[in-house]
Amino acid sequence: MLSKKIENALNHQIKLEADSSQFYLAMASWAEHNGLNGAASFLYRHSDEERMHMLKLVHYVNERGGKAIIPSIQQPPTSFQSLSHIFESLLKHEINVTKEINKVVGACLEDKDYTTHHFMQWYVAEQIEEEALARTIMDKLKLIGNDKGGLYLFDRDIQTLANAPVPSPKTA
Ligand SMILES: [Fe+2]
Ligand SMILES: [Fe+2]
Repeated sequence: MLSKKIENALNHQIKLEADSSQFYLAMASWAEHNGLNGAASFLYRHSDEERMHMLKLVHYVNERGGKAIIPSIQQPPTSFQSLSHIFESLLKHEINVTKEINKVVGACLEDKDYTTHHFMQWYVAEQIEEEALARTIMDKLKLIGNDKGGLYLFDRDIQTLANAPVPSPKTA
C-alpha cells in the first residue's frame, strides 16, 4: 500500500511524463512541418516513449492501492527556432526530469518504501540513457553548425534511431 506522500509524488511524476510526451510531440510536429522527417520520426517515437513512462506509473500506482490521476493536457510551444534549439531544450527538460525522479527516490527512502524505491530504479536508469543520448545529439549538431549538407545527413542518420519498436509499459 502506498502512503499518501508517495502516491502524490508518483502522481506528480505522471504529470511530468505526460508533459514530456506533449512537449516532444510538439517538437516532432514542428520538425515534420519543416521537412526534417528523420528528426520528426525520432521525436514522435520519443513522445510515445514518454507516454509509456506515464502509463507504467499509472499502472503501478493503481496496482499498489493508490489512485492514479490523469492530468490535463498543457499547450506546448507551437514553434521552435531550430533543431539545435529543440535538442537543447530536450536535454534541459530531461535534466529537470532526472532531478524530479531523484526527489521521488529520496521520498521513498525517507518513507522506507523500498518497493517503490525498487520500481523507480527503472526510471533512474532510463534517465541516464536519455540524457546521454540527448548530449550525443547536441554534440553532433554543434559540429554541423549552419552546414546545410551536414544537417541533411544528420536528419537521415537520426531516422535510424527512431526505427526500433517502442517497448510496451509492461515489458520495459
Ligand atoms: Fe520519461
Ligand atoms: Fe525522457
